[in-house]
Amino acid sequence: MISYIIMLIAFEGIDGSGKTTQAKKLYRYLVAKGIPVSLYREPGGTKLGEKLREIIITEEMDERTELFLFEASRSRLITEKVIKDLKKGKTVILDRFTLSTLAYQGYGKGIDLEVINEFNRFATWGIEPNLIVFIDVPVEVAIKRLKNRTRFESKEFLERVRRGFLEIVKDKRNVVIIDGAKEENTVFEEILKTLSGIFSI
Ligand code: TMP
Repeated sequence: MISYIIMLIAFEGIDGSGKTTQAKKLYRYLVAKGIPVSLYREPGGTKLGEKLREIIITEEMDERTELFLFEASRSRLITEKVIKDLKKGKTVILDRFTLSTLAYQGYGKGIDLEVINEFNRFATWGIEPNLIVFIDVPVEVAIKRLKNRTRFESKEFLERVRRGFLEIVKDKRNVVIIDGAKEENTVFEEILKTLSGIFSI
């Protein structure tokens, strides 16, 4: 039991779900309210993590090697930033966290979910978000939004990942599912509604 955790919020969703936009919106909103808050992305968020992100994105590799790199980035982020921020009483927003690995490397690429759960626990020291905001969109909607990006996965892959997310969040208590197909500001209003019970915002 870690009693100093103030609030750790993770945003999850498939590529093109709009979670990065929403995570940034929430960050700016809380800053404007004077709430101490940090925002980090995964992979990335630290000097080493950003280097690992670059490698993951640009190099060809098998899924096991990739898993190690995602977890290495996560481990560094937790140790270098997240634990320290939470100890200082800051709220931490993460743009992707452990569910992404289960959904992408597990459901998407076929790695054993128990292995991933073990890796996740090891990389995070068992720290879990107080709240996971899962932004769900149909793959067709996501792909339309991804048209302008250089790197994106196949429709079939994203379908597996989306199904994976939905399967994982089914049994979790600390998750809210938000309909990400709606207009950006409407989605944000829904996120704020969920959070208003937690923060006085
Ligand atoms: P981003 O575009 O949301 O920043 O994420 C980069 C890519 O990395 C995205 O396609 C999802 C993928 N990813 C995984 O496959 N496993 C993970 O554990 C994480 C954090 C991201």
